[in-house]
Amino acid sequence: MSEFDTVLVVDFGAQYAQLIARRVREAHVYSEIVPHTITAAEVAARAPVGVILSGGPKSVHVPGAPELDPEVFELATPVLGICYGAQLLARQLGGVVARTGRGEYGRTTLDVEAPSRLFDVAGEQPVWMSHGDSIVRPPAGFHALARTDATPYAGLADTDRRLYGIQFHPEVVHTPRGQDLLKRFLYDVCGARPTWTMTSIIESQVAAVQAQVGTERVICGLSGGVDSAVAAALVHKAVGPQLTCVYVDTGLMREGESDQVVDTFRRHHGIELVHVRAAERFFERLAGVVDPEEKRKAIGERFIREFEVAAQGLEDARFLVQGTLYPDVIESGTPDAARIKSHHNVGGLPDDLGFELVEPLRALFKDEVRKVGEELGLPEEIVWRQPFPGPGLGVRIIGEVTPERLAVLRHADAIVREEVKAAGLERDIWQAFAVLAADVRSVGVMGDERSYAAPIIVRAVTSDDAMTADWARLPYDLLERLSSRIVNEVTGVNRVAYDITSKPPGTIEWE
Ligand code: XMP
Repeated sequence: MSEFDTVLVVDFGAQYAQLIARRVREAHVYSEIVPHTITAAEVAARAPVGVILSGGPKSVHVPGAPELDPEVFELATPVLGICYGAQLLARQLGGVVARTGRGEYGRTTLDVEAPSRLFDVAGEQPVWMSHGDSIVRPPAGFHALARTDATPYAGLADTDRRLYGIQFHPEVVHTPRGQDLLKRFLYDVCGARPTWTMTSIIESQVAAVQAQVGTERVICGLSGGVDSAVAAALVHKAVGPQLTCVYVDTGLMREGESDQVVDTFRRHHGIELVHVRAAERFFERLAGVVDPEEKRKAIGERFIREFEVAAQGLEDARFLVQGTLYPDVIESGTPDAARIKSHHNVGGLPDDLGFELVEPLRALFKDEVRKVGEELGLPEEIVWRQPFPGPGLGVRIIGEVTPERLAVLRHADAIVREEVKAAGLERDIWQAFAVLAADVRSVGVMGDERSYAAPIIVRAVTSDDAMTADWARLPYDLLERLSSRIVNEVTGVNRVAYDITSKPPGTIEWE
């Protein structure tokens, strides 16, 4: 991304780094997350217009607490330290950070002494804090910009060297003027140009794909999800008819989804699409399979096999498009991320199919991918689709997967989606779906008859990243509509339960 002014966000171990990087990009400045072990020479080689030090979970006093190569402060590049980053900057430059016993957590009133490059007006403003230690003496050359009751240096600066520190978190929504502050740092202190826009992102990725692919053929596996759809649309914009998409229809998709994928890509975008109708072969493979891991494995293997067969028909293809996103790039390498991915990769393609990878979304966060998708004219249903597991509805039938059970689940799931959307909650909820406990039977009465049928479990969760999740407090009247519609309309279901388990200890999916 050398054509964009770049801000490096140094990660000190909190999730805050990603949030800061996103906020910088929302201000139309390109940002990259780098580990705190980065050396000054490596920073200089990237020629950033500014460096932001993120917060971190540790205290600067803990033995082994992460530090930054002190030479970074000598590069004449502006630096903004946030929370832990501010304390580290103060301490490494000769100031004193102390355990004052007066920590601040949550909403706090900040008192700005006078207008400055970071703060446009003097006076009080609410900010979000989360710290135990405080800077009690600033390094030489620094002066206070703002204070709180507990912290005399809630904002500090050495304006000549363009080094700044703030104790609060400007990146969170609970600091209402935080984004303004970040913008002032980016534009006024760093002199960054706001060139990271949807148009320029698309232009630069299109150029990169063209340069990589030349006149060769490219294939792209579509899953029905946002990432592969946007990646395909972007590559199509770059190389047009050199792209062929392969859509493996597992038969485990939700209602209307397969038609929509085929329709969108073939008809609206004029993209060559191989539609592999593999449902029967998936059902055959799934006959008698009950164990969740075995089921996932069976679906994953079948999927890859189907894709390989389709790809063999396009033998001159040398490149394969993958919808890898920036968070995957940052996280790959950490042992935890690796473990989570291998579990979640079901329904995806391995990297070793013998193709060279084209990854046009590698630099983008999910919200940027959605915006690119909208800009490229993809329909809302695809761009705003909730996450969906690779093995599809297969892991939402508890027990053996059969076409009959799938029809029941698909119908119930369509009702859940329809009602959640009608209630206007679709984008507030991470996922809302139905699970069929196919081997469970309960007694009911329907009209004058006794029923003995399976329950549907409704699962709706809120989450930021699927690593943790909470059950969504859906309004009772919505739950009531879901329940009565499912029991009345879906044959084979006589009871609806709502899952009120958070993650952890539960997972989002049931299998
Ligand atoms: P769990 O159930 O582990 O799910 O809490 C976390 C998130 O991952 C999705 N998920 C998958 N996504 N392939 C995927 O691409 C998979 O095999 C898979 N399994 C679960 C799940 O829907 C949730 O958003």
